[in-house]
Amino acid sequence: MELLKQKILSEGTALSESVLKVDNFLNHQIDPELMVEIGKEFKNYFSDKNITKILTLESSGIAPSVMAGLELGVPVVFARKRKSLTLNEDLLTAEVYSYTKQETSNIAVAGKFLKKDDNVLIIDDFLANGEAANALINVVNQAGANISGIGIVIEKAFQKGGTALREENYDVYSLARIESLENGEIKFLSEAVQ
Ligand code: G4P
Ligand code: NA
Ligand code: NA
Repeated sequence: MELLKQKILSEGTALSESVLKVDNFLNHQIDPELMVEIGKEFKNYFSDKNITKILTLESSGIAPSVMAGLELGVPVVFARKRKSLTLNEDLLTAEVYSYTKQETSNIAVAGKFLKKDDNVLIIDDFLANGEAANALINVVNQAGANISGIGIVIEKAFQKGGTALREENYDVYSLARIESLENGEIKFLSEAVQ
């Protein structure tokens, strides 16, 4: 997605060889107009998949997911990372291991929001090692629902998540795929291999 790539180049920073900072428009401050375009892009790609629900993870997955949900005309559910006062009914839970933080945390979704006949589009802001995506897949599987695709805003293609998910035959659509962040330079995978 050209607009997103331009935004990453102009406002993103390679913090290290593995971490991209994009808090100007995605992870802290949010650019609503860019989010609208992201929603349209996901809709165009997944429009023939009969999506009935979008599942994401709080917090940075919510903005792109809501815009995709608006375009596709489906509700958006975000898995919660912290215990909620009101989240107390037949919970679907999964563990997420964070390589960066080297710790395991839990996510939870109320069972009433994911049903067997749902065709779920999983969306997240980043795809690195795929731990968050795998936890969301786990939750969908517990509900007995179908996974129709995985939409990612920024894939760090030099980490293993995207390859592993595609090897498992998930339809992974990433709007920007980063080849490397070496020497402070942000490089995208060439369109030919995308
Ligand atoms: P890891 O595999 O690289 O260790 O990443 P991990 O799953 O532990 O992700 C930890 C958090 O960092 C996630 O957000 C994930 O989206 C984010 N993340 C991973 N790589 C990058 C990156 O290169 N740049 C940025 N900006 N974020 C990255 P989170 O903790 O769930 O936070 P949020 O959704 O509330 O923003
Ligand atoms: Na994040
Ligand atoms: Na995230």
